[in-house]
Amino acid sequence: MIKIEELTAEQAAAELERIAAEMAKADIAYYQNDDPYLTDSQYDELKHRNREIEQKFPHLIRPDSPSRKVGAAVKSGFGKITHRFPMLSLGDVFSLEEVDDFVMSVKRFLNTAEDITFMAEPKIDGLSFSARYENGRFIQGATRGDGTTGEDITENLRTIAQLPQTLPGKFPDILEVRGEVYMSKTDFFALNQKYAAEGKKVFANPRNAAAGSLRQLDSKITAERKLSLFAYTWGEVSERCWDTQADFFEHLKDWGFPVNPLNRLCRNLSEIDENFTRLMELRASLPYDIDGIVYKVNDIALQERLGFLTRTPRWAMAHKFPAEQALTKINDIRIQVGRTGALTPVADLEPVNVGGVIVSHATLHNEDEIRRKDIRIGDTVVIQRAGDVIPQVVEVIKDKRPADSQEFIFPAACPICGAHAIREEDEAIRRCTGGLTCPAQAIERLKHFVSRDAFDIEGLGAKIIEDFYHEGILHSPADIFSLERRNNDGDLFAHQPGSALHLESREGWGHKSVSKLFQAINSKRRIELPRFIYALGIRQVGTATARLLAQNFGSFKHLREEMEAQNTEKLVAIDGIGGAMAKDIVEFFSEPHNRATIDCLLQEIEVEDYVDTANYDSPLAGKTVVFTGTLEKMTRSEAKAKALSAGAKVAGSVSKNTDYVVLGADAGSKAKKAQELGVTLLNEEEFLQLIT
Ligand code: IVH
Repeated sequence: MIKIEELTAEQAAAELERIAAEMAKADIAYYQNDDPYLTDSQYDELKHRNREIEQKFPHLIRPDSPSRKVGAAVKSGFGKITHRFPMLSLGDVFSLEEVDDFVMSVKRFLNTAEDITFMAEPKIDGLSFSARYENGRFIQGATRGDGTTGEDITENLRTIAQLPQTLPGKFPDILEVRGEVYMSKTDFFALNQKYAAEGKKVFANPRNAAAGSLRQLDSKITAERKLSLFAYTWGEVSERCWDTQADFFEHLKDWGFPVNPLNRLCRNLSEIDENFTRLMELRASLPYDIDGIVYKVNDIALQERLGFLTRTPRWAMAHKFPAEQALTKINDIRIQVGRTGALTPVADLEPVNVGGVIVSHATLHNEDEIRRKDIRIGDTVVIQRAGDVIPQVVEVIKDKRPADSQEFIFPAACPICGAHAIREEDEAIRRCTGGLTCPAQAIERLKHFVSRDAFDIEGLGAKIIEDFYHEGILHSPADIFSLERRNNDGDLFAHQPGSALHLESREGWGHKSVSKLFQAINSKRRIELPRFIYALGIRQVGTATARLLAQNFGSFKHLREEMEAQNTEKLVAIDGIGGAMAKDIVEFFSEPHNRATIDCLLQEIEVEDYVDTANYDSPLAGKTVVFTGTLEKMTRSEAKAKALSAGAKVAGSVSKNTDYVVLGADAGSKAKKAQELGVTLLNEEEFLQLIT
């Protein structure tokens, strides 16, 4: 890069143009796609260089200069806030039948035949926030983030006039109010019109515009964008002075929060249905986007009994509006290769607007789906999007099919590495057999390894991983942790022994961004067990299963020993792990390449033993419990949930590892086995005493 003092005017103009384009691209990746490819410091460096050149050549300042977009100095990044009460998401359903199933499941869980009253709230399509008040003053604001940790957006939230800064009247000393920040349709269109006039890329929809505006490092920009909000739930409270959701809304209004005037109590399914139809009709004329209705059990005492699943409450459900559809053409069909070798066909579409979002790809799922619908390149198709799911092809308009069209032949070899792609019996998916010698699989595994729920390494984005992989800098997860040593002195540099990497001399990188990357990597040399297990990328093992494994095996050493001993029974005994999943897990650990990868990794990092965040004080913490027979005071699911939240493991069958067997009425063989093994037996009453 040319030094600024040495730039000619012509070079400076070209450089300003390059930086403006680069930063506009980075802005879109960051704000619109939430998928940044520049680290914050790389971004800052560009901005800095832009400013210096502009100072030297003020007559060359461009109308679209990045410096014009910014009022104050950009902070180096968002601070993180750990939610004391996680910000969860909602399960979703698409039909009245499924809502009925949800209502029935609530009744079953509570073991009641009576009607349950639900609060039905329009589901605002925005960005959720949490606002913390201490002694009636707004002191902290956060985004949802991954549900556990969000970004500190205190200053940004302060700029939204609808958010009360202080609370009037009586309020709990500590109160976290949660809700949705959104941009009204009018404000969204105005913003896009302005951007289009300035030659800037426009936002795809009001949700992206709201997210892009709220997640600004510079709160002055947030202040310039018009944002609105609705409050609808709470996080931590020192003293809850409401008994129902409806009652909570009254408090919110008294404190000055905007509450959606369309929230309604529904006492039965037909009221739910009427409300849904009414809002569907109102939807287009509302000043903001909604994408469905949220139902919440109105009575908080019942909500508390119902509790939570891993990421969603049992007492609430989102009823999404039907998908939006559009007609377009398939320009090409590509095959993507995923982390586990799965070949997924993707249609490249003629870009089309579907309900306000420009869609240019659709998933075709698998080869059977292509055959069943007879989807071909050149076809005109109906596509739909529903909520956040990837757009899908609904049907082919056969009348519009070109005369020379040909059936799509699904490849029998991996398009990336050429290895055989095979399909196992009973499986819909064809998989590349290349394993980690297949670049696509290796790259996807690395991306998974650093992803948010795994090692969560900031600064190692998709693009960087791809580049590093192709340049031979990163091949296996352990390489990430030797990066710094190899960068400085070439130590351990497997592919070109002896030569150092000097990442700081890469285009667009600098000393600051490189050291920030190493810092991010080094901060992850100790990792919690569930994250580590998830990061390994074992087929079928998501975050919930990883947590189950961590909970049941306690340490990675123990898990590994049992798996290498092919102890499948230990796995299937865990409630929530089935035979097929157990097979995949054992297979993963018997694969020599995986073992070698793990060995290398363990030389670089330390995996913490599992510490249960549930109730430590409970005598059930860490114990294995089996339920048998018909329970009378609570349903089986309620009992299981109670045991889990007391830190216990729940198993499906009795073994010598079982600590307690809880006996309901008519308990059968499990009770007998427990007696034989000398396991402690509890009746329902004794179990309830243990957990309270
Ligand atoms: S309640 C535990 N109520 O939908 C309950 N969420 O899919 C948490 N949302 O993250 C959420 N309107 O961003 C709730 N009236 C409403 C909502 C709402 C929109 C969003 C929110 C949440 C997502 C879950």
